[in-house]
Amino acid sequence: MPLFRKKENTAAPVDFDRLPRHIAIIMDGNGRWAKRRGLPRTAGHAAGAETFRTIATYCKDIGLEYLTVYAFSTENWKRPAEEVSAIMGLLRKYLLEAIGRMEKDRVKMRFFGDLSPLNEELRTLCRETEAISDRYEGCQVNICLNYGGRDELLRAARAFAGDCAAGRGDPNHLSEAEFSQYLFSAGVPDPDLVIRPSGELRISNFLLWQSAYAEFYFTDVLWPDFSKDELHKALAAYQGRSRRFGGI
Ligand code: FPP
Repeated sequence: MPLFRKKENTAAPVDFDRLPRHIAIIMDGNGRWAKRRGLPRTAGHAAGAETFRTIATYCKDIGLEYLTVYAFSTENWKRPAEEVSAIMGLLRKYLLEAIGRMEKDRVKMRFFGDLSPLNEELRTLCRETEAISDRYEGCQVNICLNYGGRDELLRAARAFAGDCAAGRGDPNHLSEAEFSQYLFSAGVPDPDLVIRPSGELRISNFLLWQSAYAEFYFTDVLWPDFSKDELHKALAAYQGRSRRFGGI
């Protein structure tokens, strides 16, 4: 049951009865946030993980159905080993906490991406989190981990080609809905709103197929500083848009 109702007193006017179903966020700007404070980049990721906790909890409280966050891309392996290992450590910490709070939070969790290069403990934690939370029906949080939009599309194309070769698919009758079932996001509606903090104005290989008709919201605020008020601004901007999906 959402805790927030229409006309909640927020900095930006948000109608909580007209929320998007699905918000996706590129959690960008952790490194710059740390640099501005003379801290190591890993401190920025730790602050970013805190912001994720706050925003994910708030999204659940306002009754959002789906939240998808970009935690680690297929390209992020190029970063120094120390930074990669710090991000993986933060994910591990978060998953251990999430498993401990599952009965209370009742958030359904899924992972989008190829988890095979992750260490065994993290892979097991991801699978455990998905399995335990599968029975929950409220908010669903999808964490993109070793995720890339192009990689996802290639995998889907390969899997579909394999099904065709095995006589289980017909390329001449492949529909968008059927192809979507080969993506990591199978069964999840497309994002309505994609938020990118930190002032960068690009999609960076995030949900390329799924964001075809998403509304975008960009802000200069760095992810660790992204607050509930910033989310309200994004929601208010979204609610002021006219979505036509190619129609008039
Ligand atoms: C992008 O900022 C951020 C990342 C690549 C990592 C995001 C990871 C977390 C927020 C922590 C772990 C996540 C969870 C879900 C617990 P950047 O480092 O590219 O920032 P910059 O552009 O300022 O350098």
